[in-house]
Amino acid sequence: MKVMKISIFLSMLIFVGCSVGGVSDNDIGLRKSSLFSEDSAIKAYDYNLKAAGESTLIDRAFENAPPMIPHNLDDMLPITKENNSCTSCHLPDIAEAVNATPMPKSHFYSFRENVDLKGAMDESRFNCVACHATQVNAQPLVGNKFMPNFREADSNKKSNLLDVLNEGVN
Ligand code: HEC
Ligand code: HEC
Repeated sequence: MKVMKISIFLSMLIFVGCSVGGVSDNDIGLRKSSLFSEDSAIKAYDYNLKAAGESTLIDRAFENAPPMIPHNLDDMLPITKENNSCTSCHLPDIAEAVNATPMPKSHFYSFRENVDLKGAMDESRFNCVACHATQVNAQPLVGNKFMPNFREADSNKKSNLLDVLNEGVN
């Protein structure tokens, strides 16, 4: 008897679950296609941006946000212990010669030990793509009204995290 009651209850639940407001599974997610198939959901986005040296910098999303990578990463990934091509252009000693933005002071400072590493990169910065991301030519699925508030005229193009980190802290 008890088992029967539970199974009636369950089938009612399933019935209710399937028909709430007549919403089809195509309308549940942002992707607007069936949740039961990946076929139509995955579009071929184009990661094929311009090469390093030919791309245009992207404004920072907010003050001291990690800048987006504006160029393609052809032959640069994966970053391995033996091979980190990012540093071959972005280390401050080299960057100017190749017209790349030099890595900032914060990447040569250990926040764990609270010491300036005197020009040596902090190992926690090694995997650049953990924080810096490339871009695809995809349109956002929902609009975004976020407006960053940059305190200095050039802070949409430059970072100064290490200089301002302790602002307001005594
Ligand atoms: C061959 C040199 C080269 C290599 C290798 C390279 N970059 Fe760049 N990068 C540049 C140049 C040059 C720019 C400036 C934009 C341009 O001219 O294309 C740039 C711009 C950037 C920017 C934007 C900086 C800003 O001020 O907005 C980021 C972030 C970046 N690169 C990250 C990376 C990462 C991460 C890697 C490794 C996966 C990498 N780069 C590998 C040369 C390089
Ligand atoms: C843990 C996250 C993280 C990692 C890993 C990381 N970055 Fe950054 N990066 C940031 C943030 C956050 C900023 C902006 C704030 C600042 O100055 O630290 C930044 C800023 C930069 C800038 C802009 C400098 C400027 O003066 O505007 C460059 C170039 C850069 N990073 C390159 C790299 C490269 C190359 C690597 C890998 C060798 C790397 N980053 C690894 C988080 C990271």
